[in-house]
Amino acid sequence: MKLEAYETQVEELLAQLTLEEKIGMIHGAGLFRTGGVDRLSIPPLHMSDGPMGVRAEFADNEWKNTGTTDDFVSYLPCNSAVASTWNRSLAAKEGEVLGEEARGRGKDVILGPGINIKRSPFCGRNFEYMSEDPYLISEMVVPMVEGIQKSDVAACVKHFAANSQETERLWVDTKVSERTLQEIYFPGFKAAVKEGGAYSLMGAYNLLNGEHCCTSRKLLNGTLRGEWGFDGMVVSDWGGVHDTKLAAESALDIEMDVTYDFGKHHMADALLEKVRAGELSESLIDEKVRNILRLMFRLKMIGEKRGERKSGTYNSRAHQDAVLEIARESLILLKNDDDVLPLDAKKQKKIAVIGQNAAAIHSNGGGSAEIKALYEISPLLGIKKLLGGNVEVCYAPGYEIPGKEDTGSVNWQADSTKKDWGADPEDADLKNEGKTVFDGKSGQTGEAASRAEEYRKEALRLAKECDTVIFVGGLNHDYDSEGYDRKDLTLPYGQDALIEELLAVRPDMVVVIYAGSPVAMPWKDRAKAILFSYYAGMEGGTAIAETLFGEVNPSGKLAESFIGNIGQCPAHTIGTFGKKDCVEYKEGVMVGYRYYDTVNEDIPFGFGHGLSYSRFEYKYMTAVPVTAQAMCGQSDAAVSGTKKECAAAGREALPMYEISVTVKNDSERTGKEVVQVYVAPKEPGHNRPYHELRAFEKIELEPGQEKVVKFLLTEQAFACYDEAQHAFVTPKGAYEIQVGSSSRDIRLRQEITVF
Ligand code: BGC
Repeated sequence: MKLEAYETQVEELLAQLTLEEKIGMIHGAGLFRTGGVDRLSIPPLHMSDGPMGVRAEFADNEWKNTGTTDDFVSYLPCNSAVASTWNRSLAAKEGEVLGEEARGRGKDVILGPGINIKRSPFCGRNFEYMSEDPYLISEMVVPMVEGIQKSDVAACVKHFAANSQETERLWVDTKVSERTLQEIYFPGFKAAVKEGGAYSLMGAYNLLNGEHCCTSRKLLNGTLRGEWGFDGMVVSDWGGVHDTKLAAESALDIEMDVTYDFGKHHMADALLEKVRAGELSESLIDEKVRNILRLMFRLKMIGEKRGERKSGTYNSRAHQDAVLEIARESLILLKNDDDVLPLDAKKQKKIAVIGQNAAAIHSNGGGSAEIKALYEISPLLGIKKLLGGNVEVCYAPGYEIPGKEDTGSVNWQADSTKKDWGADPEDADLKNEGKTVFDGKSGQTGEAASRAEEYRKEALRLAKECDTVIFVGGLNHDYDSEGYDRKDLTLPYGQDALIEELLAVRPDMVVVIYAGSPVAMPWKDRAKAILFSYYAGMEGGTAIAETLFGEVNPSGKLAESFIGNIGQCPAHTIGTFGKKDCVEYKEGVMVGYRYYDTVNEDIPFGFGHGLSYSRFEYKYMTAVPVTAQAMCGQSDAAVSGTKKECAAAGREALPMYEISVTVKNDSERTGKEVVQVYVAPKEPGHNRPYHELRAFEKIELEPGQEKVVKFLLTEQAFACYDEAQHAFVTPKGAYEIQVGSSSRDIRLRQEITVF
């Protein structure tokens, strides 16, 4: 929404700027900042990654941390963890902390949240993203963006669009149909911009249907600015611009790069020359500067409100508490046979904690999302601080993580935009600053192999002699990382074999998987209790311990389907993934559960799954058509319910149904449940998924308590995109409204008709 008050001032400032000054404002003048104009008191725009906290300080013109001690920050749960809470207010809280910390560190733009669709579990950056489902993303990104921007810092939603693989990320052409973009890959961005009011957005590295996203007229000028009315700032991904003319003519505003010969950026000297030579119009530059100035007014960096700009803070106790609260709700209890969990802290005398991830620190890895955390509580530390000194906690690494070679690279990001960089996960190790991808079997030196054997024996010995055994394994940022994709779902370092052996001696062993993406769990039928945690921030270990010992009742739900093998994933079997030149999204809208539930694929854990220590009974539901008048929330005669009138009242889609669901906590424990509403078209046609998530609410219930949860379904809940009409349509006919605890655990259904 345009704030008209700024517009005159934007024009006044613009009129005073020389061409050279304007060019200085639209490209990097430092690795993370643009140029300012001192004489008019226009400051540079300072940016920082994102999204799990504010990245450490870099030198202006060298990929080198300044190495000071004043840039330690709060390390927040990754976006996959936030999405797993299915709690909008926690998404807002994550945003608030991130925004305050960014402002506290003097930043203007925080380069997050990342909201690309998890099309394949192999994508190396999935941990930075939220979900496979565009509705869940939209619902979480809006409060997160609002939360960030409360601190007079711009959120920068990234990477627009269809950026769901790392392999050859700068050059891969992503072929996606119009309908698929509209139904799957665009909604999160559209919501962030239109509902969340995001002040900025980052273009993706990849090409989309033949055009580089950062300079795509179709995507930026057409969809983003034209259709969605975005008047904020668009920044390129670092090194995502390849052509001066395309950059100038596209709706991109700022070009950033990983190189520090700033005058050589495409929108620097080369652009100046072209404008001077009359090859490109200065008005193209003006449009970009307008967007930047508007952003600066919004952030109170310039103008009469300058003195009112929030100052933010970082590492506050309140931030640490917030981060813990989010982590607690992000943990997903995948399995809990025989109520193995929660463990009783009072009964413990000697417990074994086995696995490298029990003791590992993850904040400092992953690519541009790396964090210089003030502290990070590992699961082992969390368990020890919870149990105290009267319980003997014995730790064994269990498996060996081979050492890393020094590749001599100064910084992976400095090399990361070179053609072919990280194209093949096999050789990513050569290029990724020692982030070797290991498979746990090959390449072990004799010494490492004998250490692995020692670890294994020690783990088995401990497992036999302790009262309780907790295994904490999973992945790390050698796998979940920017710049390359995973090549299989297998747990590395021989963890599967170890888990099997441990389970053979201790069938009651609790398995905790700490990772940024799903892994195959071939032992899942033998394990009784499995707790999954994404990288959960600096208090992740506290939250895990509290959950294992019942101080916290788990309430996270999977925001992505957990498959058993990659042969089940439609991105790989129907479409293509991980290719260098071109990937085809031939699976179309059949992403994640949309596909698995349509073909009834047997997968270990479905979308929306997550257990609680409480039991919830879904008692009954009603789905009743509502008059538009009532749904518009106004009895006013002026709003009588036509689409146009609803739009005039500020509502986009015509509302249609009110769903009421009665849920009861049928247990002795207070707990939280995510009530999920899916809409399933009964009549074939339009090649639609079996069902789609259209509403959800997280509720808390005390023992025996019953609540009625109400949902409003608008026309959009029944809609799909029609390419012939270039618009969403709502096919008439029968639909089933399904209410349940996951996409695979539907408890109540009611058929309705859309006329
Ligand atoms: C990443 C972006 C990041 C930028 C700046 C790029 O490599 O793709 O997500 O914000 O670097 O560090």
